[in-house]
Amino acid sequence: MALTKVCEANDLAKGQMAAFFVEGWEVLVIRDDRGDLHAMDGICPHEEYPLIYGELDEDVLVCAGHSWCFDVTTGDGLTQPGCRLAKYHVEVQGTEIYVDRDREPTAG
Ligand code: FES
Repeated sequence: MALTKVCEANDLAKGQMAAFFVEGWEVLVIRDDRGDLHAMDGICPHEEYPLIYGELDEDVLVCAGHSWCFDVTTGDGLTQPGCRLAKYHVEVQGTEIYVDRDREPTAG
């Protein structure tokens, strides 16, 4: 999959997240409190609850289903070690945010 536009860059303020459906795939895009963007699977690996209904507390995403916690900077599960959300490449081109499910996030 190539880069796919998900939204306008100004649609996501710091500390906000939004879910998008791209070709049947749900992706969660988060702009953290520093302004960095993160794209990851939008479905909880525990019992497949949509993570968009969760709560974002700085770098920690808490699933609304059963409160499993994930570090949005790494995708790592904090409640269940070894469990993680797949993260994807995300970038801004002009005024638009794009994700690429087939690429790893860019370091830094
Ligand atoms: S579905 Fe997310 S913690 Fe259970």
